[in-house]
Amino acid sequence: MKVMAVLGSPRKNGNSSILAQKFLEKAAASGAETQSFFLECMQYKGCKACGACKTGSDKCVIEDDLSEVFAEMHKSDIIVYASPNYFGDVSGQFKLFLDRTFSLLNPTFITGPQKSRLAAGKKVVFIFTQGAAEGEYAEVTAKYARLREYFEFADFHILHAGNLMGDVSAKDRPELLLKAEKLAEQLTKR
Ligand SMILES: Cc1cc2nc3c(=O)[nH]c(=O)nc-3n(C[C@H](O)[C@H](O)[C@H](O)COP(=O)(O)O)c2cc1C
Repeated sequence: MKVMAVLGSPRKNGNSSILAQKFLEKAAASGAETQSFFLECMQYKGCKACGACKTGSDKCVIEDDLSEVFAEMHKSDIIVYASPNYFGDVSGQFKLFLDRTFSLLNPTFITGPQKSRLAAGKKVVFIFTQGAAEGEYAEVTAKYARLREYFEFADFHILHAGNLMGDVSAKDRPELLLKAEKLAEQLTKR
């Protein structure tokens, strides 16, 4: 089983990355092969809306550091998306990446069948960390849960963690670390 994480925070050891790392560690302990991509250190552009991936090409025609991420998404069984809440949305780094995943949709993505170029059955975990209290910004995670329909993911799990502002670290929140571990345990069970 292959598990990958796309880390959208510029803070490599920040809260969303800590929780994603916890998930990967537990998945590795269950025998999974894991890999993570730290977007902040990668060179890539946003979607140009050139339409090439819907007309002549079956993949994004922009060749940059995201090409490897997309290749790995094809091979992975579980994909972890991790981002902090920036002004009520994902980080800019993560949104640029996400827009480029438009290239992973077939030209028939609206009408179907087979909307996605990714094989069906992949599971996604969306880790979203914020300074605001738990329960706030539920509309943001609900919005991104719609990715499940577009990409025909088998599951879309949300780990939405609040009260993580400033110096507060997810490392000091055992209940969050446990949630990440439990989720990994559940999803990697054969
Ligand atoms: C540019 C910026 C914008 C932010 N906007 C919000 C916000 O709108 N709501 C919120 O609850 N927290 C906001 N935060 C706080 C972060 O979401 C919070 O500290 C989060 O735990 C950081 O995750 P990370 O350590 O993975 O980067 C913001 C932080 C920054 C730097």
